[in-house]
Amino acid sequence: MSNIRFISFEGIDGSGKTTHVKSFCNYLINRGIDVISSREPGGTPLGEDVRSFALKQYADKSKKTELFLFEACRAELFKQVIAPALQQGKMVVVDRFCDSTLAYQGYGNGNNLDTVKFVDDFATDGLKPDLTFYLDIDPQKALERRAGRAVVDNIEERGLEYQMRVRQGYLNILRDNPNRVVLIDANQSIDAVDKSIISEFLQRYKD
Ligand code: TYD
Repeated sequence: MSNIRFISFEGIDGSGKTTHVKSFCNYLINRGIDVISSREPGGTPLGEDVRSFALKQYADKSKKTELFLFEACRAELFKQVIAPALQQGKMVVVDRFCDSTLAYQGYGNGNNLDTVKFVDDFATDGLKPDLTFYLDIDPQKALERRAGRAVVDNIEERGLEYQMRVRQGYLNILRDNPNRVVLIDANQSIDAVDKSIISEFLQRYKD
């Protein structure tokens, strides 16, 4: 059985995760690897419903409530999708996982970091990805990339300073988890980022 079976992609809004998750999964499929991919928040019927609450603007949505909404999505995805797929020996690739909550609801919103970690462990029985690609991008550049998008959710509306705090959170997570989290320079072209991801993967993967 391979050493890497559970992979997450992380990064601030506009870092290009969704594009790279797709191309990386195509690469795995072409290699004959049995892979499923999913996204957070969402990925299950209940999770997709809760996603809309998590990303919607409410005048009085508290920071604690926001944390629990994202963790509700994760608990559901973990139980319904991730754990069964891993059990069946599949590789699992997720667009966002535990580090998003620590970066956004912890570092970004100012919830206590240990509490966020505790709630997250509860939602996932403490399971962490084997490998995390953190797509690092200059927040100003990410903002420019997102400028043309029609749909802007409540989190994206929080603006540049918020995204800068989240990025710093990700850099702290990278520092604290050097064996799991790999930084990818997402300021490069799409093709160069794809190549960096595959090269980092191949340096670690053993089937
Ligand atoms: P995402 O689907 O990656 O954004 P997009 O629709 O632009 O591809 O994520 C939606 C938003 O949810 C994003 O702003 C980050 C936020 N988020 C959190 O704040 N905490 C979390 O735990 C997760 C999973 C996402």
